[in-house]
Amino acid sequence: MKIKNLDGVGAEVLELDIGNLSAREFAELERVFAEEGLVFFRDQQLTPQQHIDFARRWGEININRFFKAHSEYPEIAMVAKEPEQTANIGGGWHTDHSYDVEPALGSILVARELPPANGDTWFTSMYAAYDALSPGLKETLASLHAVHSAKHVFGSEVKYQRETGGRLGNSEAADGLPDPVHPVIITHPLSGKKALYVNPGFTLRFNGWSAEESAPLLNYLFDVAMDAAFVTQFKWQPGSIAFWDNRATWHFAQNDYHGCRRVMHRITIEGCALSA
Ligand code: SIN
Repeated sequence: MKIKNLDGVGAEVLELDIGNLSAREFAELERVFAEEGLVFFRDQQLTPQQHIDFARRWGEININRFFKAHSEYPEIAMVAKEPEQTANIGGGWHTDHSYDVEPALGSILVARELPPANGDTWFTSMYAAYDALSPGLKETLASLHAVHSAKHVFGSEVKYQRETGGRLGNSEAADGLPDPVHPVIITHPLSGKKALYVNPGFTLRFNGWSAEESAPLLNYLFDVAMDAAFVTQFKWQPGSIAFWDNRATWHFAQNDYHGCRRVMHRITIEGCALSA
């Protein structure tokens, strides 16, 4: 297998059939994934069952509470947009599941049906965002925690729910979730490196601060994390797969293919509580 580091975040893993991994190849992939927080594969021919089997090698599968499931495989969440739909799923910078007490490790997204052009996914690095901060700001952030929530995205009162036309559900589960508090700077559970852990999708405020007080500093951190130098714009092709670590990256699904269909299969892997 060959590793091609990308200019922004992540690495492309070449010459590897992830449906047929040896123990040695898997160990090498674990190392690259921990280091990069994001790996891409091309020209794979994974069946839904092979997708599930690959995901299980990394941990327990999280059955998505809000996304429509695959008709035969409840482990697979459907990330789809039909030609007549306008909103997409994941169309803003975010990291999945920061609204959980134990945020998910990451997701494996398999391209199943792509628009003729566009529909890229952008990724950015929370290691690079942390590294870009000054020593003084790192020290200040090290003592802070932030409150995260799913209610304003998946809850019953939100516009996003209405616009996604049946692709999301179970809003009462989002309404009932406690809003967890996580350290703003985490020690990554796989790599041991420091990473920034706030995101525009699900972080509400710093713990003990009002939303108004939090907004200027949060927005500053978001701007740092969106630096073009850290961003990889991943162009999907048939057979492409992205596997990202939610604690080390954010992602953003571009919604620029109106009138076309895009269908992705996503499996999310359970994670753990995060510490500073
Ligand atoms: C997501 O999981 O946020 C969607 C990513 C994508 O569809 O590219």
